[in-house]
Amino acid sequence: MKHIIVGTDRAGSNSRKVAELVYGMYQEQGEDIEILDLKDIAKGFAEGPQYGNVTHPILKAAADKIEKSDGLIVVVPEYNGSMPGALKYFIDHLKYPDAFEHRPVAFIGLGGMFGGLRPVEHLQQVFGYRNSFIYPDRIFIMNVWNHYKKSDANPEGTLKDAMILDLLKKQTAGFSAFIKGLKHAGLHPTR
Ligand SMILES: Cc1cc2nc3c(=O)[nH]c(=O)nc-3n(C[C@H](O)[C@H](O)[C@H](O)COP(=O)(O)O)c2cc1C
Repeated sequence: MKHIIVGTDRAGSNSRKVAELVYGMYQEQGEDIEILDLKDIAKGFAEGPQYGNVTHPILKAAADKIEKSDGLIVVVPEYNGSMPGALKYFIDHLKYPDAFEHRPVAFIGLGGMFGGLRPVEHLQQVFGYRNSFIYPDRIFIMNVWNHYKKSDANPEGTLKDAMILDLLKKQTAGFSAFIKGLKHAGLHPTR
């Protein structure tokens, strides 16, 4: 099972919409896929810091899934030139080294004119530090709000840009193949 992490706890986030789009693409390709939304997981922060010893059931359920995950797809928006604090706080709760050691990870950034380049590159440092296998083809969705313009007919908006849809599909197929290759080579943490 692969997991898409919605990298913000903001209600009604564009990150959630992108995650749902990508979820459909993995499903179409016959892959097992689940969305982990920080909006839900963040309820587990209520008990206060549980660094490395997660006890809140919501947070624990997410942490357990990540420790068994075939691969993580992180959809991250840019907040103040980096990733949302909620995402870094979540990462800091997860068990070292089990959560990310040799775990495959792919990134989709979204934001303004740089399309989430900064949070993705900051996350590459974090996941690189944690010895993850980083899938090299990253995707950046610039001026994301233009893609999710609301109308009466379509209150949520729909991402229709052909180039972005094509890049997302290519990443979906490529990341699945990347994970299979790592498993075949005996390099995957679930081997
Ligand atoms: C708190 C906050 C800070 C933001 N800071 C930036 C920023 O530094 N650079 C940028 O390009 N966009 C920034 N934005 C715009 C977001 O990247 C954009 O609105 C995106 O849709 C937010 O993701 P979300 O809808 O998943 O929350 C910011 C938005 C929020 C809510």
